[in-house]
Amino acid sequence: LRYARIQGAKGFHNKLPSAIVTLNATEGSPVYTAGKELVQGLDGIFGKQVKHLDGSSRQKQPATVAIVATVNAYVDANPAAAKRIPQLADDGFYLDVSNGNVLILGQNERGALYGAFHYLNLLAQGKVSNYKITSNPDAPIRWVNQWDNMQDGGTHGSVERGYGGKSIFFWDGKVRDDLTRVRLYARLLASIGINAVVVNNVNADPNLLKPENMDGLARIANEMRPYGVQLGLALNFASPQTLGGLDTFDPFEQKVVDWWQNIADELYKRIPDMAGYLVKANSEGQPGPMTYNRTLADGANMFARTVKKYGGVVLFRAFVYNHQTLNQDKDWKADRANAAVQYFDGLDEKFEDNVVIQIKYGPIDFQVREPVSPLFSHLRKTATAIELQITQEYLGQQAHLVYLAPMWKEILDFDFRVDGKRSVVTDILNGKRFNRKLGGYAGVANVGTNTTWLGSHLAMSNLYAFGKLAWNPSQTPVSILQEWIKLTFSDDPKVLDVITKMSMASWPAYENYSGNLGIQTLTDILNGHYGPNPASQDGNPWGQWTRADADSIGMDRTVWNGTGFAGQYPPEVAAKYEKPETTPDNLLLWFHHVPYTYRLKSGKTVIQHFYDAHYEGSATAQTFPKLWESLKGRRGIDQERYEHVLFRLVYQAGHSLVWRDSINNFYFNKSGIPDAKGRVGNY
Ligand code: GCU
Repeated sequence: LRYARIQGAKGFHNKLPSAIVTLNATEGSPVYTAGKELVQGLDGIFGKQVKHLDGSSRQKQPATVAIVATVNAYVDANPAAAKRIPQLADDGFYLDVSNGNVLILGQNERGALYGAFHYLNLLAQGKVSNYKITSNPDAPIRWVNQWDNMQDGGTHGSVERGYGGKSIFFWDGKVRDDLTRVRLYARLLASIGINAVVVNNVNADPNLLKPENMDGLARIANEMRPYGVQLGLALNFASPQTLGGLDTFDPFEQKVVDWWQNIADELYKRIPDMAGYLVKANSEGQPGPMTYNRTLADGANMFARTVKKYGGVVLFRAFVYNHQTLNQDKDWKADRANAAVQYFDGLDEKFEDNVVIQIKYGPIDFQVREPVSPLFSHLRKTATAIELQITQEYLGQQAHLVYLAPMWKEILDFDFRVDGKRSVVTDILNGKRFNRKLGGYAGVANVGTNTTWLGSHLAMSNLYAFGKLAWNPSQTPVSILQEWIKLTFSDDPKVLDVITKMSMASWPAYENYSGNLGIQTLTDILNGHYGPNPASQDGNPWGQWTRADADSIGMDRTVWNGTGFAGQYPPEVAAKYEKPETTPDNLLLWFHHVPYTYRLKSGKTVIQHFYDAHYEGSATAQTFPKLWESLKGRRGIDQERYEHVLFRLVYQAGHSLVWRDSINNFYFNKSGIPDAKGRVGNY
């Protein structure tokens, strides 16, 4: 989006349009925005100044033009063209680039803007002509979630698990006066195909629904509308009581339903195109329908009915568990991982058709490796969306480079083998496998006021990759990454090579030094989820247990002897996870409790694998600063970004040693088993 000048820019001028023509575009509409972006982009990337003309104007048009329109507007003006325009899905686009003449058509206005951004994306990579592209999103829900608070302990808007500064939306308990960055954020999101933002924390503040705050939300929506990004809101289930003054928030009470209907009416009066709601209920102390012995479906449906007539949807989270009643210390078979399926089983037929169940990728909580949540294979009548975390809560909080697309890709490609048939996650999300209309992707982004958005320049590859995968999950993590490198830095081969190498090595390295074999990220889970603290996993109500003792380690989640979690998968997959021999090594300790001396498929014992992996992972992190230093002065690597990134990589290299030694010593002390290579415990 910097539209940085490319090499040999002048040489391309005669292959570029000389004017931009938008059809039926009122100022502030996404088609109009597309026109503005094209003018800005051609100037930035090539130094070519072009005019933005209105299709209905009588001004003489130059020989080569870029026409931007919806399919309908274009066909109205050129009926004969109808035959050669391919069928598009919602938000899809068609690009026809032939020397200087460019046609950018969207199925809707937003699609036209996506087409323009795609054209600019290719231009910035030096791909000027000639091609035809038809592109449709894989799924309709492509949302980001922001966990922004209206205020924190003080008066400022903080972001829960945000590592890039304060909230861009809220300040001092209200919507900010200056929303300049909100507009920039919408631009950024539109450029990667995201169509909605839930602007407030899932641990929601009921005050957001006060009339003056609804007015503020309308201002946010106004800033984002030119980019086709819709507003979503997280709700607090108890609001009718805590904000509305009712004596109940039971979803079966008519006065509660009326209260919520009034809220929906008031919101849609101000924001007619509001996307809908996100609801966290009965989880981690949050109120919900179960407070009144109603089901989760009863709760979700109450909201769904209030927004249905407006075309709104309800993303209802499956992250439901009760940390107060979890009994893992007394009960070998108790398991937080079982909760989601247990709560949702039996409800599949019960949801309104504008409810989407939003499911975290794994059954626990954004760990460095988890098996895919089995709930995706249980909900067959209900639409589902996958929740991924762009902000690196357990994954180094943007102080560590961890490129997440390879992890997401493994999850998205996972095959549940439902009824013995191919049932990959992406086909469940896009509705093909179980024949549903809604569904898709939610990414917890948590950008903030920091000029880098996420707190680290390199972390932005994760936001980029999230948008690109939500649009087209068949793309590879490397190709997405390289596109991002070219656009963000430059296409200098050395720059491409080095950032690719570091990024692709980063998730395996982090897994190696922070918690491997499926034991989860061994962070301090009681304080801030950062840095090593394996002792903090067990013995508390949060349920992220390892059950490590002097002889053995791992959660026994088998059906025959453990918590039964493995049995939540369809039979073929369940059978694989039931036995240590058929469970992939990287999930061994997720599913099985084994002696430290258990031999992996590699022939190594569990404990020796731990020792080696922590050494290998941190050794990889040691290479990052040197690699980055080799880019000093290269094209696109300006001094400011160079230093910002280097500072973090040096820190990561050091911190990976802290990780390595704390974890290795911890398990050496527990097991008393020496490292075969003599490195651990010799101080
Ligand atoms: C994690 C995270 C919380 C968050 C919760 C959720 O537990 O640490 O900050 O509220 O997930 O996703 O609801």
